[in-house]
Amino acid sequence: MSNIIGKTMDSLIQALQPLSMTLFFIVPLLFMLGLISRFRRRLPYPPGPRGLPIIGNMLMMDQLTHRGLAKLAHKYGGLFHLRMGFLHMVAVSNPEMARQVLQVQDNIFSNRPATIAISYLTYDRADMAFAHYGPFWRQMRKLCVMKLFSRKRAESWESVRDEVDTLVRGVAANEGKTVNVGELIFSLTSNITYRAAFGSSANEGQDEFIRILQEFSKLFGAFNIADFIPLLSWIDLQGLSTRLPKARQALDKFIDTIIDDHMQRKKDRNNGSDEANTDMVDDLLAFYSDEAKVNESDDLQNSIKLTRDNIKAIIMDVMFGGTETVASAIEWALTELMRSPDDLKRVQQELAEVVGLDRRVEESDFEKLTFLKCILKETLRLHPPIPLLLHETAEDAEVGGYYIPAKARIMINAWAIGRDPGSWEDPDTFRPSRFLKEGVPDFKGNNFEFIPFGSGRRSCPGMQLGLYALDLAVAHLIHCFKWDLPDGMKPSELDMSDVFGLTAPRASRLIAVPTKRLICPL
Ligand code: HEM
Ligand SMILES: *[C@@H]1O[C@H](CO)[C@@H](O)[C@H](O)[C@H]1NC(C)=O
Ligand SMILES: *[C@@H]1O[C@H](CO)[C@@H](O)[C@H](O)[C@H]1NC(C)=O
Ligand SMILES: *[C@@H]1O[C@H](CO)[C@@H](O)[C@H](O)[C@H]1NC(C)=O
Repeated sequence: MSNIIGKTMDSLIQALQPLSMTLFFIVPLLFMLGLISRFRRRLPYPPGPRGLPIIGNMLMMDQLTHRGLAKLAHKYGGLFHLRMGFLHMVAVSNPEMARQVLQVQDNIFSNRPATIAISYLTYDRADMAFAHYGPFWRQMRKLCVMKLFSRKRAESWESVRDEVDTLVRGVAANEGKTVNVGELIFSLTSNITYRAAFGSSANEGQDEFIRILQEFSKLFGAFNIADFIPLLSWIDLQGLSTRLPKARQALDKFIDTIIDDHMQRKKDRNNGSDEANTDMVDDLLAFYSDEAKVNESDDLQNSIKLTRDNIKAIIMDVMFGGTETVASAIEWALTELMRSPDDLKRVQQELAEVVGLDRRVEESDFEKLTFLKCILKETLRLHPPIPLLLHETAEDAEVGGYYIPAKARIMINAWAIGRDPGSWEDPDTFRPSRFLKEGVPDFKGNNFEFIPFGSGRRSCPGMQLGLYALDLAVAHLIHCFKWDLPDGMKPSELDMSDVFGLTAPRASRLIAVPTKRLICPL
């Protein structure tokens, strides 16, 4: 027995002889090459906590929230580096570093990172929000800015007005009762985007659609080890390999029906039926083709063609980008006002003077409502609805003397930047009057101290529409009603904690009791 083994060993060693010679040369060679490439890198990574071999800083996974990263930034500075498995991450936490990344070197920092789940659910980045920077993204962006989210698309603005009216009537019907304001607001903004996207006739399927999106949202955030250590992709703790196809099939089925309906209606319309109201699906279908194509021409109609997958993915962008963001901002604004009765009194006084108690607020009033504007800005400063802007580097880069490799995930902490003590006095205090001063930063994207909508190429294309919904909803709710906290709750007892996801809404829903304030019917 042992004889056989001995023989096998001998022949094995013989067989390995040439191999061991090669190893003898190749290993040191590889080692040298490694040294050289490391030498060529020269610049160090940005500072950051030390990691373990292979997994890097993965034990700090739970700190990858706006608050966790802000805390780490106190220790490691405005630009710090983490390694999660094979993935490099860089957190940007002060205005100057944000300017470097979003303006000075925006050509390198304008890609979007996507996990395996996100790539799958967006039909391999067939949308705009997760498309990499390039010709396709550029034409998609043009299409969105000029057609879908444009001020000229009056129907979107109309659906905001109509849905806010419905909300006001709903609240009025519950006068004197305890109302779950947070839930109402979420329902308001999903009604707005749903109608803007699919038109008013499709309301039946809304509950199902919201369920589908909630599953998407969970999958977007699900931890998947394969994103960090590709070799371990067989470990599927969250059952993603079945959940992902199931979720996408559900969305396929849902939107396919809607697209078919719209195509049918389009045919009918061409035949002389008079339905002037178009929704986003109608607008997108004008670019429909069986095969996707893009080229860089100024004439949008001839330069981009969309497939069904593109249309589905864009609709998803709108639902994700435009619903929770706006709802979170409205709820935070009302919450901060309930916690700060003096500011609430002051803004209601302004509304009484500018608008009067005998009518509702109208769009033409907005420019005179100076203090209301301050309230909304201060809300977006303290509670930017998207707290972390996620970007990815297209190639190796150098920032502030540090090396950032290609395909690194860049997390721009808009939340920490809005509370940067070097840029804001008393940064954690809600004080809207700070925006009355000359020269305070504005959120249009030129001041890197205040970037709730981002800045530059990847900044929010839906800003105007989002601000309109925010303005209108908050103005109506505080002009039409007086609000009290339930059961003698004190303003200081309001829970101000947030939860972290794609957005950072309040951890608990706002509950309050409305009383009618206007002398006209609502
Ligand atoms: C208060 C409301 C809103 C806020 C605070 C907000 C904020 C943002 C932010 C911070 C970004 C990312 C910027 C970056 O990565 O640098 C973004 C991107 C985006 N937003 Fe908004 N948003 C709002 C409303 C909306 C609305 C109403 C829509 C659509 C109707 C929308 C559609 C999008 C899309 C499609 C993108 C991706 C753009 C791209 O990747 O090129 N957003 N938004
Ligand atoms: C949103 O639409 C649904 C269905 O039409 C309706 O029941 C609900 O009251 C609406 N929400 C608000 C806040 O108006
Ligand atoms: C359009 O109208 C013509 C007659 O005006 C009719 O023959 C045709 O079937 C109609 N097509 C559709 C799709 O309704
Ligand atoms: C691209 O550009 C050419 C002219 O340069 C034009 O003829 C064509 O229609 C454009 N569109 C596509 C998608 O090829």
